[in-house]
Parts: sequence; structure tokens; C-alpha cells
Amino acid sequence: MTRVAIVTGGASGIGLAIAERLVKDGLTVAVFDLNEASVGAASFAVDVSDKAQVDAAVAEVATRLGAPTVLVNNAGIEGFKPFLDITLDEWNRLMAINLTGTFLCCQAVIPHMVEAGWGRIVNISSSSAQGGQQRMTHYVSSKAGVIGLTKSLALEFGPAGITVNTIPPGFIDTPMLRAAEAKGLLGPGVDAAIATTPVRRAGLPEDIAAAASFLIRDEASYVTGQVIGVNGGRNTG
Ligand code: NAI
Repeated sequence: MTRVAIVTGGASGIGLAIAERLVKDGLTVAVFDLNEASVGAASFAVDVSDKAQVDAAVAEVATRLGAPTVLVNNAGIEGFKPFLDITLDEWNRLMAINLTGTFLCCQAVIPHMVEAGWGRIVNISSSSAQGGQQRMTHYVSSKAGVIGLTKSLALEFGPAGITVNTIPPGFIDTPMLRAAEAKGLLGPGVDAAIATTPVRRAGLPEDIAAAASFLIRDEASYVTGQVIGVNGGRNTG
């Protein structure tokens, strides 16, 4: 049986690598993104913060491709601002996409997993939520919410055969990271950060995809509610 996976934010960076990896692993992959994705069996124009769009796209996946039993919540945006300058609109937007988007996708997909008696959810959070990050309070708070959501869902849906884990990436070379560097938001930049990374390189989207691929396998069925750091040793907490 070919499993059907939904990967959000799969048009770029980490999400694209995850979608490519899951295709290679033999899954049927549907990508939800604001932008058209070049990978997978189907690409859906979805804003994950919009409940009507999410519900309609999940229903269409179920009809066209089959019931989705794998969900990777990866779509996200960053935010850099001194705390006192963060507007309520900026705060709400970060929460809406990074946290509420994850909530909406989980709520739409989990009923299909419950019916199948099997499911895998991988939420992409951020290593910044493990240690905190100055000038990123809204972003970090949204990602800390994703970690709490992950742990709670794991407890509630473990008996239904569904595992829920989160990967907090640290310092992965993607368009998001390069855009932050170009705006001067990474301090001394990517090369300087590499020098203080124990494995002495930036992470690659494929590093996150490999961890997601493992968590989605049958043999990972005893791993749930976990925070699986993939960060080159930058964060060991
Ligand atoms: P990226 O900017 O390359 O890709 C993000 C994708 O999400 C884009 O295709 C974008 O169109 C999509 N997206 C944004 N808002 C959306 C929405 N409302 N609805 C649907 N799709 C939407 O970013 P990257 O670096 O690949 O990040 C992926 C995830 O990993 C994000 O959640 C990010 O916060 C997280 N992350 C990345 C780190 C890094 O070092 N690059 C570190 C920690 C976390």
C-alpha cells in the first residue's frame, strides 16, 4: 500500500527536501504551499493559516490521492525584531502561520489517521525555541508552541496508532537562512556561525529530511512525543 503524505511549505528549502525524500521513500506526496511546488504527485496552493483552504485541500487529497496518513508541518516564516518593536499584527501573523497553521493541518488530517489506525506527524519547530533567541520573541514563541502541541498530541493520539514528533532544526542553509544573512540579521554571518558549530558546517535541508524519513517509518513506532534536534551539535539540551 502506498502511503499518502502531506508536506506543508514543500516548495522551498527544508520542506522541498522532505518532499523529495518521501517521494524517494515510495510515498505519494502532496505539497501545500503558497507557491507552486515542483515535487510530488500534486501541488496545492494553500495558506496554512486559512482553515477553509486547509480543510478543502485535505479533502481533495483524500479524494484524489487517498487518505493522508503522514503529515509534515513545515511551512513557516521567520521574524527578527527587538521585542519592544514587535507589533500586534506581526505577532499575530507569526502565530497564525507557524502555530495555528500546524494546528489546522493536524485537525484536518488526524481523522483520516484515526480511521486508518496509523499515522505519522512530524512538526518542524526550531532550535531557537529550545534555548530562546533575542530579537525573535514572536518567532520563538510560535515554535515553542509547536513543541507543546507536538507533545500533547502524542499523548492524546498514541493509543490510536499515531506518532507525533518534532524536529527543531538549527542553522540550515535554505533561502530563509540566506535571506536573514543578506539582511544582516545573523550577526557576523553564515561562515562565522560555521566556525562555532561542532560539526563545522551548516546544516543541509537533506539532514532534516533524513530525520523526518526515519520518524515516518513503521520501525519508528515507539518514538513519539519527542524533540529530535538536528543542529550539528549547536544545541545539546
Ligand atoms: P523557506 O523560506 O525556504 O521555505 C518555507 C516555505 O514555506 C516556502 O515555500 C513558503 O512559501 C512556505 N510558506 C510560508 N508561509 C506559508 C503559508 N502561510 N502557507 C503555506 N506555505 C507557506 O524556509 P526553510 O528554511 O526551509 O524553513 C522551513 C521550516 O523550518 C520553517 O518552519 C522554519 O521556521 C523552520 N526552521 C528553519 C531553520 C533554518 O535554519 N533554515 C531553523 C529552524 C527552523
